[in-house]
Amino acid sequence: YVIGVDLGTSAVKLLLVNQKGEVTKEVSKKYDLIHEKTGYSEQNPEDWVDQTVAGLAELMKGFTGDAATVEGISFSGQMHGLILLNAQQQPLRNAILWNDTRTTSECEEIYETIGEERLLELTKNPALEGFTLPKILWVKKHEPELFAKASTFVLPKDYVRLKLTGQLHMDYSDAAGTLLLNVATKEWSTEMCDRFELAQDFCPPLVGSHEEVGTLLVDVAEKTGLTPDTRVFAGGADNACGAIGSGILEEGKTLASIGTSGVVLSYETYEDKDFKGTVHYFNHGVPDAFYTMGVTLSAGYSLSWFKEVFAKQEDFVSLLAEVAEVPVGANGLLFTPYLVGERTPHVDSTIRSSFIGIDSSHERKDFVRAVLEGITFSLNESVEIFRKHGKTIDTVISTGGGAKNEVWLQMQADIFNARIVKLQSEQGPGMGAAMLAAVGCGWFTSLNECADTFLKVDKEFLPQEHNVRLYKELFRLYKNVYSLTQDINQ
Ligand code: XUL
Repeated sequence: YVIGVDLGTSAVKLLLVNQKGEVTKEVSKKYDLIHEKTGYSEQNPEDWVDQTVAGLAELMKGFTGDAATVEGISFSGQMHGLILLNAQQQPLRNAILWNDTRTTSECEEIYETIGEERLLELTKNPALEGFTLPKILWVKKHEPELFAKASTFVLPKDYVRLKLTGQLHMDYSDAAGTLLLNVATKEWSTEMCDRFELAQDFCPPLVGSHEEVGTLLVDVAEKTGLTPDTRVFAGGADNACGAIGSGILEEGKTLASIGTSGVVLSYETYEDKDFKGTVHYFNHGVPDAFYTMGVTLSAGYSLSWFKEVFAKQEDFVSLLAEVAEVPVGANGLLFTPYLVGERTPHVDSTIRSSFIGIDSSHERKDFVRAVLEGITFSLNESVEIFRKHGKTIDTVISTGGGAKNEVWLQMQADIFNARIVKLQSEQGPGMGAAMLAAVGCGWFTSLNECADTFLKVDKEFLPQEHNVRLYKELFRLYKNVYSLTQDINQ
């Protein structure tokens, strides 16, 4: 067996996986978010450790085999969160999370100090509030006495791994989201550290996601029922692990993951393509590979918002069932999913949603179809950026809420103009972490070989030429709505 630990924002999910890739047990343990002020989002790192240890103990409870048959553990984690450590490797304050937005002026400071062009050259990514460097600068400015005691920093899952093994590391896929890593060369950027007056040894030792970093500490083994010989592998960022767990392991493969927000993520072989910061460009959990990623802020959220406001009594299944009766284009109704602003491609927190073309003949089902189409058009803007930069997008693995309805899956095939694949059992980042441990333990020679055994296709959806043509025209109209509605939303 191996264990995949997915340290999420609301809970840690743990999967016990056998050599066939079957999840034999699953445990989830919640922890709280701390919102002291508007825009603040923090968590207590000790809660992550306590709940992970409790989760491991629960996973092992009633395990009838020899504990030594659980050979390895690896991790997936929420990205970007800052945990500042003192010389004794104790956290100096709560972690500041990826969805904390207090750092707008620190992002401006980053651009003023180094310039957008140089930032993109070094780190491949723009300065966004969620990333780690702006959080470091915020603490430096607002809590200088505390910052003076900081000897290093880690990201969420690295802190948990540190407490489980006693070993301090950060892997490339997560380090890529700090704005301190030179993503192309996989080294901490001396220039970034110098410009922001951070000592070189402030950044922790780097490793690959598949690398073995230690074994379990004796007291952790005692508390969990695992053996102290259990091998621990570094693991990766949740988006990298989600990609691994969905088989995004070679050029041409892309993931469309529709949760509250939506992500389109594509495998990238090259370290030197220039996407000019239009999409995130991070190191993959696959050695020497990368991935690019675009984000729709309100994907599934647009649908749950619609249900909450207009169809409260309905469940999602019956609400979506009606959509099959509505033709492509929702009888002339168009929706933009900008309920809380938009990330890719506009990076605009002020833009808001619209329904365009409302006619007295429209029924609720037309609105539902328009919402699904609008979400998918927004994701297609990321697909379009990838293609414009020469990427082949021919197979898209669809996961999350978007994979739960066949009309929506066919819609993705028609709008993305790509083959859509739905997987049989979808475990996302936790499965990606388990796969890193399985390869690390020597069960397979590569993640690709592991995916052949662990991941099974359920169904495929092929683009239908007539629909592709109709959607192409509608997508052109959709793209105009942003600039046409920009002014009225200010
Ligand atoms: C990625 C990002 C989120 C977090 C969520 O840039 O901010 O996807 O990783 O856990």
